[in-house]
Amino acid sequence: MNDQIRVGRGHDSDPAPGYLDYARVGPLAPGAVAALDDAVALARRSGPAELDRLFALSDAARASAARLLDARPHEIALVPSTSNGLFTAAAALRGPGTVLVPRDEFPANVYPWIRFAGRGGPDVRLVEPDGPLRISPDLLRRHLTPEVTALTVSAVDSLTGHVAPLAALKEVLGPDRLLIVDAIQGLGAVPLETDAADVLVSGGQKWLRAGWGAALLLIRDRCAERLVPGLGGWAGVTDPFAARHPAPPLPGAAAHLATNPDFPAAAALGAAIDDLLDRGGPAAVGTRIRTTLAELLDRARGAGAEVLLDGLGEGERAGIGTFRLPGHDPAAVHQALEAAGVITTRRGAWIRLSPHVGTSSTATELFADALDALGAAGAPAAPGAVGGLDSRHARDGTSASASTSVSTRSITRATAHTRPTDNPRSQEPTCPTT
Ligand SMILES: Cc1ncc(COP(=O)(O)O)c(C=O)c1O
Repeated sequence: MNDQIRVGRGHDSDPAPGYLDYARVGPLAPGAVAALDDAVALARRSGPAELDRLFALSDAARASAARLLDARPHEIALVPSTSNGLFTAAAALRGPGTVLVPRDEFPANVYPWIRFAGRGGPDVRLVEPDGPLRISPDLLRRHLTPEVTALTVSAVDSLTGHVAPLAALKEVLGPDRLLIVDAIQGLGAVPLETDAADVLVSGGQKWLRAGWGAALLLIRDRCAERLVPGLGGWAGVTDPFAARHPAPPLPGAAAHLATNPDFPAAAALGAAIDDLLDRGGPAAVGTRIRTTLAELLDRARGAGAEVLLDGLGEGERAGIGTFRLPGHDPAAVHQALEAAGVITTRRGAWIRLSPHVGTSSTATELFADALDALGAAGAPAAPGAVGGLDSRHARDGTSASASTSVSTRSITRATAHTRPTDNPRSQEPTCPTT
């Protein structure tokens, strides 16, 4: 390691300078760590004053989330995780009807809908992509049969980094059908069209750098009456100790609470959101993240890489970029990067980069050096890892050349038509934090 890198290392507990894996886990931000420590100190005593303070911290976190989402605090509840928030939404949406789920959604946004279909929830229709993007207003329009009551979608695709056009999707849905958004891969990274979301869920452990244990669940007033408190428990009613149950639900998103939040996690989430807002909010942070990502992807292209969904327009990509090096064994590339101090996620043949606002030029240099070394070493190709995708699409949906040249900057991705072994989504590692 050269001196420059050593100097750039900062505090021992900071993420390593080559950490490019915020889409997997965002190492805790200093403000979140301090908030956690303070809340744990309160929990160690747990006297009446300390408990009041812990409740106040979770209220403050809801208020901060409301500021971030331009919502009212009562429209926000704190739940344990993104998955839990999506299960809460699925339990709240009653049939008859159909919820549309893009087929390539992250599984956390598939199972809740499957589990509640047939238990009073709407039927599930998995929407097949018809081109390089998982969902588009046109594709949605074609699926908008009368029985459709909702669409659930990730704000940012965890693999490709594509930002869903939430406002345009909501416009197609209209006021009577719900737009439900899993925002964890975008919130804290880039500006999102969150006004369009009727229901939105996001954990804090990725781009917000708040750790696990608390997620925000937004249920806008405009749709609150269409949702029943399916998972609402004793913490979600006006009188938990009523002589008879069920007691009336609390107003707002709180009606869906099963129990109290994890208070230290809630405090960390609030501190992380405050920190984001203090830095100028998603717009300021997003500009920096996108610049860094663009530099990394340029270096990858320079080394001969194919970038998934290359050619996305400004604002269409969040903090995630994914590439592969034709002719190289992806596992070896991933390992070589890690050996060089560059931390990424590999999904099948693809390697995902996800820098954050604090990622310095050192990371780009480490990355470029590691790619250069790979090129010089001429890593052997793995079976099936050579050449272009089986199916490549230009933005207009026509087939692009099968050449691995990146100069055309056409959008490329593995689609339903790729062989299973080439489809990065069929090779999800079992680790749940991807
Ligand atoms: C888009 C998306 N949704 C949900 C999850 C899971 O979130 P949680 O562990 O908070 O349920 C992840 C990744 O872990 C993700 O990438």
